[in-house]
Amino acid sequence: MICFNRYLFKHIKAWYKQDIKKGKPTGEFKTNSGFGWHSSTDMNERKEYNPLVKELFMMAEYCNRDYGVQPKLGLGNMWANINPSYSYNKTHTHPNSLWSGVYYIKVPKNSGKFFAEDPRPGPNTYMPRRMDNLPKELWRVIAYDAVEGRMLFFPSWLPHGVDINMNTEKGEKNWRVSVSFNFIQTPE
Ligand SMILES: [Fe+2]
Repeated sequence: MICFNRYLFKHIKAWYKQDIKKGKPTGEFKTNSGFGWHSSTDMNERKEYNPLVKELFMMAEYCNRDYGVQPKLGLGNMWANINPSYSYNKTHTHPNSLWSGVYYIKVPKNSGKFFAEDPRPGPNTYMPRRMDNLPKELWRVIAYDAVEGRMLFFPSWLPHGVDINMNTEKGEKNWRVSVSFNFIQTPE
C-alpha cells in the first residue's frame, strides 16, 4: 500500500507541476477552497492510474450489489486533489452520478476529517439539545479520519465535505493528497 501511494503521489505531483508551468490557476476550484489544486477530470483516461481504476471498479461493484443496482457501471470522471495548509472542501453533492468517493494517498497530521451530513431537511431544522453518547442512528453528521490507503464510497446524493487542513509543516509536507471519482450507470 505504501509503495502504491508513493507511486500515485509521484505521478500526481508531476501533473500538478505541469499545470503550474502552464499557468493553470490553483485557486478556488469547484468544491476545493483555500487554494487547493484540482486536476482535470480525465484522470481515469491516463494509463498510469489504471491500477487505481481497477480497485475503484471492484468497490463500486460491491456497492451495486449492496443496493441492488443492476449493471453496468461506468467511471464518469476522476480527478486528483492537493489540499495544502488551510484549504478545505465545502459541503457538496455530486449531481448526475450514482456512487462517488475518495481515495487518500497522503494524509499529514491534523489535515482534516471527511464528514457526511444527514440530507433530510427535517432533522436539519429540528435540533433540540441532545444527550451525550447518542446512538449512531440519531447522528446528524458522521466523520471519518482521512487515512492513507483508505477508500470511502457513498451515494452521490449524500452531502459531504472535508475539514480545513490545519497542518502547517513546510512545503509538500502539509499537503493532503486524494483522488475523487464518480460512477454512473451506463445504458443497457
Ligand atoms: Fe465530493
